[in-house]
Amino acid sequence: MNVLVVGSGGREHALCWSLAASPLVDRLVCAPGNGGIADVAECIDIAATDTAALVAYATANGIEFVVVGPEGPLVAGVVDALEAVPAFGPSTAAAQLEASKSFTKDVCARAGIPTAAWGNFVEAEGARAYARELGAPLVVKADGLAAGKGVAICRSLDEADACIDAVLGGAFGAAGNRIVVEQFLDGEEVSVFALVHGDQVCWLASAQDHKQVGDGDTGPNTGGMGAYSPAPVMTPELQARVMDEVLAPTARQMVADGRPYTGVLFAGLMIVDGDPFLLEYNVRFGDPECQAILPRLRSDLLTLLLATRDGSLRRVSARWSDRTALTVVLAAKGYPGAVAAGSEIRGVAEAEAMEGVTVFHAGTKRDGGGLRAAGGRVLGVTALGADVAAAQALAYAAVDRIDWPEGFCRRDIGWR
Ligand code: AMP
Ligand code: GLY
Repeated sequence: MNVLVVGSGGREHALCWSLAASPLVDRLVCAPGNGGIADVAECIDIAATDTAALVAYATANGIEFVVVGPEGPLVAGVVDALEAVPAFGPSTAAAQLEASKSFTKDVCARAGIPTAAWGNFVEAEGARAYARELGAPLVVKADGLAAGKGVAICRSLDEADACIDAVLGGAFGAAGNRIVVEQFLDGEEVSVFALVHGDQVCWLASAQDHKQVGDGDTGPNTGGMGAYSPAPVMTPELQARVMDEVLAPTARQMVADGRPYTGVLFAGLMIVDGDPFLLEYNVRFGDPECQAILPRLRSDLLTLLLATRDGSLRRVSARWSDRTALTVVLAAKGYPGAVAAGSEIRGVAEAEAMEGVTVFHAGTKRDGGGLRAAGGRVLGVTALGADVAAAQALAYAAVDRIDWPEGFCRRDIGWR
């Protein structure tokens, strides 16, 4: 089968790395890919957001299946636009689960899914009044896509008022034309991933991300500085409850609403006194969670993705290694702010030579025989171990073989 993967980050490298090992894959292409993806797939120079060019390429080049990595192209409708070429991922209508927080909250209300109390507002007056009803701390969110930056935990009503004004005032552009004001939930955060087709839901895995840039969860939020999977907090009992109380009712509600979901559904949960609450949905694999999930997969990824598309999820199940995988992200100094591109990275092969270690590229370019940084998040070093501590020790041993003075990483991934 000829397969096209859309995207250029560490998540897409993990997807390509896993798909390249599939006996079903004849030809693997990635648009646009990166320096590491080029080792396992043919990279073509088409931006992930250039829907028309992706459709034209897939149609003209005998592509039989398209796997879309990032949310932007999904929300923009690449799966709808591909029409004749089967693709993995939701339609624009179903991708609203990530594109609009108030949409998701309405789905939760209709389906009875546990979530923080909330209101949604297009003007400050109502939002401020609701903030007073909730009391501090509380959470103010831009409704639309804001690259993970549109959420503020407000410790006081003054802070909440300032956030409400900033977001409605355009701090996140049109994504903040509407805001969600919600109750603060105090608990343990965990992400879960499931394949969904209509009302069929196939559990994949749990993971925990580390969003802040600094050790001990300090500094600004990033796309994610590291992750591990599975998350010990996700016991079999809790997994069953998340399926019954969150994932399955969401899938059924989307069908009932005429927006059946197809693809991977990524639920961000808060576990409060043992009970799961939905914080948010994403309509794609997490990055870097994907890099900590796929190395544990023992089933053929393409078979699972095709079953998701075809609606035969009841006939497949995902088998997993019982080891833990832990991913440490190496970023260019300055991230999540401005970074300099082009510095040379050495020692990746030495890190990968370690048993149980895989290095996924997030933002690299090949330059002759060398490797250069080309982004904020640059590499993701994943290691497998018997438990979080063993995976962490191996991951950092591998990180220490990488010679890149212009980069940095958190030294405490897995500390919880
Ligand atoms: P979101 O993009 O909605 O996942 O929000 C980003 C982060 O903000 C989450 O990963 C949580 O750490 C935090 N967060 C979001 N909503 C809440 C809430 N209601 N209570 C506490 N923390 C939250
Ligand atoms: N790591 C969080 C995300 O992919 O949204």
